[in-house]
Amino acid sequence: MIVEIGYGGGEHLALEAANHPETGYIGCEVFTGGIGKMVQTIAAEGLENIRLFTDDAFKLLTELPDASLDEVYLLYPDPWPKTRHHKRRFVSPTTLAELARVIRPGGVFHFATDIEDYANWTLAHIVRTPEFAFAPEKPGDWHQPYPGWQATRYEQKARREGRMISFYLSFMRA
Ligand SMILES: C[S@@+](CC[C@H](N)C(=O)[O-])C[C@H]1O[C@@H](n2cnc3c(N)ncnc32)[C@H](O)[C@@H]1O
Repeated sequence: MIVEIGYGGGEHLALEAANHPETGYIGCEVFTGGIGKMVQTIAAEGLENIRLFTDDAFKLLTELPDASLDEVYLLYPDPWPKTRHHKRRFVSPTTLAELARVIRPGGVFHFATDIEDYANWTLAHIVRTPEFAFAPEKPGDWHQPYPGWQATRYEQKARREGRMISFYLSFMRA
């Protein structure tokens, strides 16, 4: 089972689910426009392996059994760039503890952002979370998208606005 948090327009979730029909997916989104579009995509493409959770993804995480997920994607989360708003970022010690609980050993938490400060923020929290390992093979690997990557709508918008470099960070559950 794979969870995508904040799937937005659902481009990545739909492609992943279509490419892996044997795998179950749960998409979490609170934005009504995104939920509606995802429902339309599921119907149009006949995707039978996606379930939608239409509330705060943290609530879903707290309800899931231990080690029940193979992977979690958090792609271009809301950046909350102002220092006084950093506490609203999805990545926090509390959410990482829940992610560590629900992702099985050997599973992966995938995170992407075009905001360098959020990438650094996430790495700073991950190094304090011993359940997750960050082990790129060489410097710069984190600028390469995951294999089979489907650019999300937010990523395309970032590029149009001149933010060409993204960070793709994958953390393996020990
Ligand atoms: C910046 S958008 C990125 C959307 C998409 N991942 C993309 O790359 O195009 C962040 C999305 O996360 C959703 N979101 C924010 N907090 C959330 C939460 N706690 N649970 C579920 N979705 C959330 C927002 O509604 C928004 O659609």
